[in-house]
Amino acid sequence: MKILVLNGPNLNLLGQREPDIYGVSTLADIESMCLDTGRDIGVELGFAQSNHEGALVDAIQGAPGTYDGIVLNAGAYTHSSIAIRDAISATTLPVLELHLSNVHAREGFRHHSMIAPVCIGVIGGFGATGYLLALRAMANHLGADR
Ligand code: DQA
Repeated sequence: MKILVLNGPNLNLLGQREPDIYGVSTLADIESMCLDTGRDIGVELGFAQSNHEGALVDAIQGAPGTYDGIVLNAGAYTHSSIAIRDAISATTLPVLELHLSNVHAREGFRHHSMIAPVCIGVIGGFGATGYLLALRAMANHLGADR
């Protein structure tokens, strides 16, 4: 069982980017925490991050065959990208929408998600811990939870 943790624009800046909203953990810190959880639940992980919409589409298209599910923090593309939504609709893999912050407690433009209707579920508002919750939720969805 292998899960892709895919991060979108500006998430490479975690740790220095608006830490009051997104926390002080870097993306590398989060990936390391994810690997610990992956070991706990017996799931292999892969990681990718891009600031580019098309690269995220490519990552989603390329995941079947290597991965069984995708945990996706699409960043701001969550709220705007029909291309990413279409890639999720087209893939055979389950995709979980993830956010560090509680987008519903923030600006109005963050309240709408283009991708939520084509994802298996949404986790947000729990900071870096959300990644670990998302892995457990995806593993459970895939039937691999221990
Ligand atoms: C985010 C929320 C988005 O609205 C924002 O554009 C991000 C990060 C989050 O993890 O809270 O870049 O996806």
